[in-house]
Amino acid sequence: MILVTGVSGALGGLVFDRLHGSGPDVVAGTRAATGDARRIDFDDPTTLTDGFAGVRVLVFVSAGYAEDDVVLARHGAVVDAAAAAGVRHVIYTSLAGSGDQLSIALAHRWTEARLAEAEFDVTVLRNGLYAEIPAGLATAAAETAAATGVFTAPMGHGRIAVVAREDLADITARVASETAADLAAGRPGRHAGRTYELAGATAIGGDDIATALTRALDRPVTYQPVSLAETRQALATGDLRPYQVGHTLSLFANTAGGLLARPGDDLTTLLRTPPRPALELITRALAPVS
Ligand SMILES: NC(=O)c1ccc[n+]([C@@H]2O[C@H](COP(=O)([O-])OP(=O)(O)OC[C@H]3O[C@@H](n4cnc5c(N)ncnc54)[C@H](OP(=O)(O)O)[C@@H]3O)[C@@H](O)[C@H]2O)c1
Repeated sequence: MILVTGVSGALGGLVFDRLHGSGPDVVAGTRAATGDARRIDFDDPTTLTDGFAGVRVLVFVSAGYAEDDVVLARHGAVVDAAAAAGVRHVIYTSLAGSGDQLSIALAHRWTEARLAEAEFDVTVLRNGLYAEIPAGLATAAAETAAATGVFTAPMGHGRIAVVAREDLADITARVASETAADLAAGRPGRHAGRTYELAGATAIGGDDIATALTRALDRPVTYQPVSLAETRQALATGDLRPYQVGHTLSLFANTAGGLLARPGDDLTTLLRTPPRPALELITRALAPVS
């Protein structure tokens, strides 16, 4: 049996949908379980003891929205519970190697190290940054851009190699179902011990977001880089929690520093179709404002 965690989240939901009804025996894991779903709350390890019973392949979707001490504790609990339950293979959704200097990398690399010490087999999916991130920047900026003709962000002239969540879900479902098939046939898992680099094929910068805004708003919009200090000040008065401000500034600093532009080697190999074009995804996200 395959269990997918975090199915009410965007990535976990897409992965579960792809596996459900497509052949493998799969069950949904979520904090607020109803129906056939199992209650899986990484912050409550008792749910993991029951929830992982009978699971052979665990799709462990990272739960990164918290301070690092909380994320480390919850991810550590998953590793311990999977080992105790006799899970045979864990597939972990991590972060691309190009993101090594991001503040969110700490929890991912710590989790990878904990998984590597465990007795079960592991596949690490080092996911690229979602194309939904620049799409979110574009939609958040649309009103101001419509009024001023300017899109501002502290991205310098850097770019982010982004990937559509749906591409990552396609790959995750493929790896999970092939792993389950290998286990059922008594074969060595073809993805066991593998770390896949899944940063996107297209790198998006501030100019690209301005171009998408220009098309959506039907007026010229230009990109104007701003400083991290200005952005820190603006974020301090917004809705983000303090740790989210830190992660957001880290993302912008890494982008401006040119660290996030490198595509991953494994995306196109593992996808059965060409990657979904990131610019189209941004344009689609902007459709309601155009
Ligand atoms: N690559 C990127 O660009 C990027 C960007 C943002 C985040 N991420 C990471 O990728 C993960 C998945 O992304 P997403 O877009 O699907 O995020 P999302 O839509 O916010 O979903 C996150 C899901 O994580 C699950 N979760 C949260 N706390 C949990 C806990 N204590 N125990 C078990 N599950 C918990 C929840 O699922 P249930 O409600 O079903 O329990 C939640 O819906 C995120 O959690 C984050 O670690 C990656």
